Amino acid sequence: MRQLYIAGNWKMNKTPSEAALFAKELAEKAADAKVKVMVAPTFVCLPAVVEALKGSRVIVAAQNVNDHEGGAYTGEVSCDMLSDIGVKTVILGHSERRQYYGETDEFINAKVLFALKKGFDIVLCVGETLSERESGRLREVLGRQVKVGLSGLSAEDMAHVTIAYEPVWAIGTGKTATPADAEDAHAFIRSVVAGIFGSDVAENTIIQYGGSVKSGNVRELMAQKDIDGALVGGASLTLDQFLPIIHCVD
Ligand code: 13P
Repeated sequence: MRQLYIAGNWKMNKTPSEAALFAKELAEKAADAKVKVMVAPTFVCLPAVVEALKGSRVIVAAQNVNDHEGGAYTGEVSCDMLSDIGVKTVILGHSERRQYYGETDEFINAKVLFALKKGFDIVLCVGETLSERESGRLREVLGRQVKVGLSGLSAEDMAHVTIAYEPVWAIGTGKTATPADAEDAHAFIRSVVAGIFGSDVAENTIIQYGGSVKSGNVRELMAQKDIDGALVGGASLTLDQFLPIIHCVD
């Protein structure tokens, strides 16, 4: 039985003091949630959020990490730096990083492998653009992103990997994939995971949906067989919107 996993990707929002205030209240109000909960603030907010969430069940994740031990990589943050402040989860391959910062599947895979070696849990994001979907390339694109992103991983590694399906055209646009379309993509992703690692691993892999998830659509999405949680952007920025999402199965 897969436990629902609801995550808030704050993207480039909130100052450290705003993030700490939010996190303190979240710690209290998420205490009795039945789902696994995570928030991913920006790097500069991480120490304040870790502090505010100490002793709470809310996981704190980074939005990115470098694939080297350390050294001359200006502007980057290493796994050891994150571990040192108590962060052991990272989102990798978000479509905004693919789109604006040129991250390729191979580069993302290098980060996945390195972060796993460093003992991190990963949320690997995949998803097609509108033109890829409209030109009938959905499966080709998702298949490639999953296969290359997870290349070189063992079945045991997959216990530390969550996949987030985020159709690019649904991110921040107010357009959500219909539950049926999302389920179709999730089932396909699970079949790709089964093809690589076997059906036991695939059955245990959490696959989140992301793209304009709101309190009004979350229940219908979560009711789908292969949708095991959500990676929420805009609606994770206010407690008014985020709390009903993390309490969607209460
Ligand atoms: P929105 O929920 O704002 O569409 O963002 C989704 C997302 O990109 C989460 O990573």
